Amino acid sequence: MTTQLTKEEIIEGLDRLGPFHHHVELPHGLSTHDETQSRRSIELTRVSSLVEHAFPSLLQACGGSLAGKRVLDVACNCGGFSVEATKHGADSVLGVDIVDHYIEQANFIKDAAGLDNANFKVLDVNDINESTVGMFDVTLCFGLLYHLENPVLSMKRIASVTKEHMLIDTAVLPTPKGNPKFTSRPLWMMNFPTVAGDDKHHTTSGWRADERPIQFAPTVNAVIELMKNLGFSKVAKIEPTNSDIETRYYKGRRASFLASR
Ligand SMILES: C[S@@+](CC[C@H](N)C(=O)[O-])C[C@H]1O[C@@H](n2cnc3c(N)ncnc32)[C@H](O)[C@@H]1O
Repeated sequence: MTTQLTKEEIIEGLDRLGPFHHHVELPHGLSTHDETQSRRSIELTRVSSLVEHAFPSLLQACGGSLAGKRVLDVACNCGGFSVEATKHGADSVLGVDIVDHYIEQANFIKDAAGLDNANFKVLDVNDINESTVGMFDVTLCFGLLYHLENPVLSMKRIASVTKEHMLIDTAVLPTPKGNPKFTSRPLWMMNFPTVAGDDKHHTTSGWRADERPIQFAPTVNAVIELMKNLGFSKVAKIEPTNSDIETRYYKGRRASFLASR
């Protein structure tokens, strides 16, 4: 892993392409995190805290590392989790995202960090199939499920190219209490989030600024039942234990899952 860029070229790329939603360390003591441009403090810890929280279950299921694995990172944004997959030994990683600018950022990080075995391409998850991306041992599906207009169909596409494990991180709907119908059934709540306007690159949901999006928030049970339905025989919620992870993981508003064939 040798950088393709000089220190000056990295500084120029950071200025030109920032802000970045993931904090990635780069050569020459540089990094993608710029406090003055960051929208939320969570951007500094998003990758490291989620890796600490969710990767151990995946690594254990894979025999200790991602060595020998081909990894797909869907909705990769600027590729922070793709970088982590390579650090954990993945043979190769493909990151896909629907936004050109995020893939431009990811390719800049690839060159700056000298990641020979990571590739990035602009792709809608709904266009994922074996002929567009190939097949993968492991898929990372972070921060996407609750944004999807057709969550079952999109997850079906992602599952169709996943041979072994899928690691999912998503906002979840806390289970409404009181009515047994609500506590026992898998539920999805329909959301109409406000559009991002021209603040496109300051929010990770700015890719549909011209539309009034419809999104669905699943309960924990809904995620588990969906993944089982898509052919994963073992699906488990990963319980939060680290202090670094956002409080919403402890409050039942966000959760990670490992689904295995
Ligand atoms: C909340 S961000 C999550 C980014 C990253 N995976 C993470 O967890 O930090 C949502 C990402 O999904 C991407 N995205 C949304 N809809 C998509 C689609 N249909 N196909 C591919 N990427 C999509 C957005 O461009 C954005 O980068």
